[in-house]
Amino acid sequence: MRNARTIILNLIRRYLTRHGYTLAHTNISGVEPLKLWMSDTGFLMIWDEICKKTMIDVSRAYMIYQLLLNVRHLKGAAAEIGVWRGGTAQLISSVLYHKMIYLFDTFEGLPAVSPDFDKNFHCEGEFGDTCYEDVKNLFAQQDYVKVIKGVFPGSIEKNNTYPREFCFVHVDVDLYQSAKDSCEHFYPLLVPGGVMIFDDYGFGTCPGVRQAVDEFFKGKHGHFYLPTGQYVVIKNGD
Ligand SMILES: C[S@@+](CC[C@H](N)C(=O)[O-])C[C@H]1O[C@@H](n2cnc3c(N)ncnc32)[C@H](O)[C@@H]1O
Repeated sequence: MRNARTIILNLIRRYLTRHGYTLAHTNISGVEPLKLWMSDTGFLMIWDEICKKTMIDVSRAYMIYQLLLNVRHLKGAAAEIGVWRGGTAQLISSVLYHKMIYLFDTFEGLPAVSPDFDKNFHCEGEFGDTCYEDVKNLFAQQDYVKVIKGVFPGSIEKNNTYPREFCFVHVDVDLYQSAKDSCEHFYPLLVPGGVMIFDDYGFGTCPGVRQAVDEFFKGKHGHFYLPTGQYVVIKNGD
């Protein structure tokens, strides 16, 4: 029963966010800020390609896009934890095509949920409506993209080609433990100026992500909340 409720709520959320309904940023004079993504043709070409393979809406995608443009010159690889059908991963690979990109997902849905933070909103196996082979095929022509199946962080390839430095990490995992593990693994490997961006942080359905991020970044500098619901961390060498 709870699983059915969770699935229905997430379908509604996915529909609403894809169509931008969560974002009404009208200021006091009643004037809405510009939707710059509507006129950015470079971005729109990518969005057109990915929008049916992602759960995020166009404004969140544009935040990611702009951050990607800002880390292009940095050293280090890129990663995404929480790939699902590969939409946001394609966004990353469209901009950082000169870097190694590591994509982590079970491709069988969410792993075990935390009884303390996640269980009222998510269930194990949710988002299992994807296919590892399909996502692998999506990146078949891009040998700089590695698609890694399994529960992160146990799925990390422990060999000497695995990067020691990252410049960009997109964390879209919905769950407390997955977000915590992502922070613990990637933040120490982030180069100065490197970016981690968390989807889900501002959404009532993902309290575990907010909990994990707040715990980890307490006392550190260079992190802030976006009105899109995302949370951004920029490493400044502390
Ligand atoms: C919301 S979906 C990702 C959506 C995707 N970024 C997009 O394009 O919109 C969340 C994904 O996180 C994955 N996930 C969560 N925790 C994980 C973990 N510890 N290891 C591997 N995959 C995980 C789930 O399998 C699921 O596919």
